[in-house]
Amino acid sequence: MKRMPFDLLVIFLTIIPLHFASSETLPLTSPTKCHEQERSALLEFKQSFFDAKSSVCRRYGHRPKLESWKLEDRDCCDWEGVDCDEGMGYVTSLDLSESCLSGPINSKASLIRLAHLQSLNLALNDFNYSQIPSAIGDLVELLSLNLSSSSFEGQIPSQVLKLTNLTSLDLSWNGRLELRNPSMETLVQFLTKLEHLNLCRSNVSAPVPDVVANLSSLTSLRLCDCYLQGTFPTTIFKLPRLQLLDLSGNPKPSSHLPEFRLGNPIKSMSLGITNFSGSLPASLGNLAFLSKFNIDQSNFSGNIPSSIGNLTQLTMLNFRLNKLSGEIPSSLGKLIQLSYLNLGMNLLSGEIPASLTNLTNLTSLDLWDNQLTGQIPAEITRLTRLTYLDLSLNRLTGPIPKNISNLESLDYLGLQSNNLNGTLRLDVILKLQHLDKLQLSSNEFSSIIEPGMNTSLPNLSVLSLASSNLSELPIFISYQSRLQWLDLSQNRIYGPTPPWFLNNKLYGVIPPCLSNLSNSLLVLSLNGNDLYGRFPQLQNDVCQLNMIDVSDNQLQGSLPWELANCTNLEFLNIGNNQIVDTFPSWMGSLFYLKVLILRSNRFHGAIGEPKARDQFPNL
Ligand SMILES: *[C@@H]1O[C@H](CO)[C@@H](O)[C@H](O)[C@H]1NC(C)=O
Ligand SMILES: *[C@@H]1O[C@H](CO)[C@@H](O)[C@H](O)[C@H]1NC(C)=O
Ligand SMILES: *[C@@H]1O[C@H](CO)[C@@H](O)[C@H](O)[C@H]1NC(C)=O
Ligand SMILES: *[C@@H]1O[C@H](CO)[C@@H](O)[C@H](O)[C@H]1NC(C)=O
Ligand SMILES: *[C@@H]1O[C@H](CO)[C@@H](O)[C@H](O)[C@H]1NC(C)=O
Ligand SMILES: *[C@@H]1O[C@H](CO)[C@@H](O)[C@H](O)[C@H]1NC(C)=O
Ligand SMILES: *[C@@H]1O[C@H](CO)[C@@H](O)[C@H](O)[C@H]1NC(C)=O
Ligand SMILES: *[C@@H]1O[C@H](CO)[C@@H](O)[C@H](O)[C@H]1NC(C)=O
Ligand SMILES: *[C@@H]1O[C@H](CO)[C@@H](O)[C@H](O)[C@H]1NC(C)=O
Ligand SMILES: *[C@@H]1O[C@H](CO)[C@@H](O)[C@H](O)[C@H]1NC(C)=O
Ligand SMILES: *[C@@H]1O[C@H](CO)[C@@H](O)[C@H](O)[C@H]1NC(C)=O
Ligand SMILES: *[C@@H]1O[C@H](CO)[C@@H](O)[C@H](O)[C@H]1NC(C)=O
Repeated sequence: MKRMPFDLLVIFLTIIPLHFASSETLPLTSPTKCHEQERSALLEFKQSFFDAKSSVCRRYGHRPKLESWKLEDRDCCDWEGVDCDEGMGYVTSLDLSESCLSGPINSKASLIRLAHLQSLNLALNDFNYSQIPSAIGDLVELLSLNLSSSSFEGQIPSQVLKLTNLTSLDLSWNGRLELRNPSMETLVQFLTKLEHLNLCRSNVSAPVPDVVANLSSLTSLRLCDCYLQGTFPTTIFKLPRLQLLDLSGNPKPSSHLPEFRLGNPIKSMSLGITNFSGSLPASLGNLAFLSKFNIDQSNFSGNIPSSIGNLTQLTMLNFRLNKLSGEIPSSLGKLIQLSYLNLGMNLLSGEIPASLTNLTNLTSLDLWDNQLTGQIPAEITRLTRLTYLDLSLNRLTGPIPKNISNLESLDYLGLQSNNLNGTLRLDVILKLQHLDKLQLSSNEFSSIIEPGMNTSLPNLSVLSLASSNLSELPIFISYQSRLQWLDLSQNRIYGPTPPWFLNNKLYGVIPPCLSNLSNSLLVLSLNGNDLYGRFPQLQNDVCQLNMIDVSDNQLQGSLPWELANCTNLEFLNIGNNQIVDTFPSWMGSLFYLKVLILRSNRFHGAIGEPKARDQFPNL
C-alpha cells in the first residue's frame, strides 16, 4: 500500500449499494495513515453512490468494492481498490472497475481532491449516459485513465487535453461517446506520451489523423468499430514500438499495406471488415513477431506471398472473404504454431499443399469456397487436434482419406460440393465420436457403406447428404435423436417412408424460416407432432414441394393460398388439425395432386361445382 496527500475533490459517481459486508481487513504494515482530506474525499465519493439502487451488480456478478470503505477504518490506503504512494501516503491509484457504480456522475461528489492520482480505472460501471466530468482535467498527474464500458455519453471534455502525462487512455465501449471537439486529432496532438489508446466502440466518425504516426511511444492502438472515415495513414504501420493494431469493423476507410521493414515489432494486426485493398506485400515476411493476422472480409487481392512462411510465430491467420488468388504457398507448412487457419471464400486454386499436414497444432482449418483441385492429402489425418475442418465448395476429387477417423476431436466436417468419388465410408466417418455437423452433399460418391448396427455413433445435429445417389434412407439416421437439420434432397429414395423416420414428438410453432425453403424443399413431413399455430406460410413464388403431411397436429387458421404455386404437389394431408376454411377449390389447378386429405378440421360451407372441367385432373 502506498500513500499521498490530498486536497482535490474529484468526480462524482453514483455507486451501487454494497450489501455484502466484507470481512477482509488487511493487516496494516505501514505506520503512515492516509491523508485525512483524501479519506474524506473517498468517503464522500462513496456516499454519492451509496443510495443508488441498481441491478448491474447482480447482473454481472460483480462485488461492490466500496463496501470495504468504512468510516471507522482510518487508513484509506488499505481500502479495496485504493493504492497509496509509499513515501508520502497520497492516493495514487484508484481501481473502481467492476464496482457496481450506477447512476450519473454528477457535480455533487468529490474525487478530484485526490490530486496525486496517477491511475484511475472506472471501467465496467454504469454511469447512466452522463458526461465525462470536465473536472477530470484537474488530475494532471494521471498516467492512466480507463473509462471503458461505463455508459458515458456525449462529447469528451476538452479538459482531458490537460492530461499530457497520460500513457494509457481507454474510452472503449461507450457507444455514445463522441470525439468532435476535441477530435481524435487534437487529442493525439496533446497526449504525446500515449502508449495505449483504445477507442473501440466509441464514435470517432472521422479519418485517423496522420499525427498518430508521431506517437513514438505507441504500443497498442485499438480503433475497432468506431466509424472511421477517410483513408488510413500507412505510416502508422511503421511506428517503432507498435505491437498491436486493431482497425477491424470499419468498412469505410480505404488503405493498403505498406512495405514492412525487418525489425518491425508488430505482434497482432487485425484489419477484419475494413476496406483495405491491394496485395499482400512480400515484405510481410519481415514481421518476425507477428502472431495474429486477421484480414477477414477485407478487399485484398493477388497471391499469398510465399514469404508468409517466415512468420513462424503465427498462431492465428484469417484471410477469409477476400479476393486472393493463385496457389496456397507450400511455405505455409512452416507455420507450425498455427492453431487457426482460414483461407475460405477466396479464389485460390491448385492443390492443397501437402505441407499443411505438418501444422499439427491446428484446431481449425477452413479452405471452403475456393477453386482447389486434386485430392485431399491423406496425411491430413495427422492434424489430430482439429475440431473444425471445412473443405467444401471446391473441386476436390478422389476419396475421403481412409484414416479420417484419426481426427478424433472433430466437431465439424464439411466436404460438400466437391467432386469426391468412390465409396462413401460412413462406417469410417461415423467413428468420430465428437462429430456434430456432417456435410457431404453434392459429391460423386458411387455407393455408401453404413456403420454397423452395434457401433456407437456420434449424435449429429446437422447431416446433409443431398445429391448423394442414395436409393434408400440410411438406417443409421434412425438412431439420430438430436438432428436439427437433415438434407436428403435430390436423391433417388423410393418406396414408403419407414415409420422410424417419423420418430418425433415436436412441440411448438412451425418456424417461419421454413417458408423460405419452399423452393428447395421436396418433402415436408411433420405429421403426428404437437405443432400449433398457423399453417406454414410459403413465401417464395417457386415451390418445389411434392409432398406435404402435417396431419395430426393442432394447426389453426386457414390454408395459405400460396400452395397454389406448388405445381408439383402430389400429396397433401392436413387431416386432424384445427384449420378453419372453406373447401379449397382453388387447388383444382394443381395438375399432379393425387391425394388430398382434409378430414377432422373445421372446414365449412359448400364444396360446389368445379369452375372448369379440368379441375383436380389426377385426384
Ligand atoms: C438513469 O437515467 C434515467 C433517465 O435519464 C432515469 O430515469 C434513471 O432513474 C437513471 N438511473 C439511475 C440509477 O440514476
Ligand atoms: C508529468 O510528469 C513529469 C515527470 O514525471 C512531471 O515533472 C510533470 O509535472 C508532470 N506533468 C504534469 C502536468 O503534472
Ligand atoms: C481497462 O479496464 C478494463 C476492465 O478492467 C480492462 O479489461 C482493460 O484492459 C483496461 N484497459 C487498459 C488500456 O488497460
Ligand atoms: C456518431 O457521431 C456522428 C457525428 O458526430 C453522428 O452523426 C452519428 O449519428 C453518431 N453515430 C452514433 C452511432 O451515435
Ligand atoms: C509530426 O512529426 C512530423 C515529423 O517529425 C512533424 O513535421 C510534424 O510537425 C508533427 N506533427 C505534429 C502535429 O506534431
Ligand atoms: C473502398 O475503397 C475503394 C477505393 O480503394 C473505394 O472505391 C470504395 O468506395 C470503398 N468502399 C467503401 C465501402 O467505402
Ligand atoms: C524469409 O526468410 C529467409 C530466410 O529464412 C530470408 O532469406 C528471406 O529474406 C525472408 N524473406 C522475407 C520477405 O522476409
Ligand atoms: C474493393 O476495392 C475495389 C478496388 O479498389 C473497389 O472498387 C471496391 O469498391 C472495393 N470493395 C468494397 C466492398 O469496398
Ligand atoms: C502448439 O500449441 C501448444 C499450446 O497449445 C504450444 O505449447 C506449442 O508450443 C505449440 N507449437 C507446437 C509446434 O506444437
Ligand atoms: C514436414 O516437416 C518436416 C520436418 O520439418 C519436413 O522434413 C517435411 O518435408 C515436411 N513435410 C512437408 C510435406 O512439407
Ligand atoms: C474419381 O475421379 C477421378 C478423377 O475424375 C478418377 O480418376 C478416379 O478413377 C475416380 N475414382 C473412382 C473410384 O471412381
Ligand atoms: C404464384 O407465383 C406468382 C409468380 O410466379 C405470383 O405472382 C403469385 O402471386 C403467386 N401466387 C400465390 C398465390 O402466391
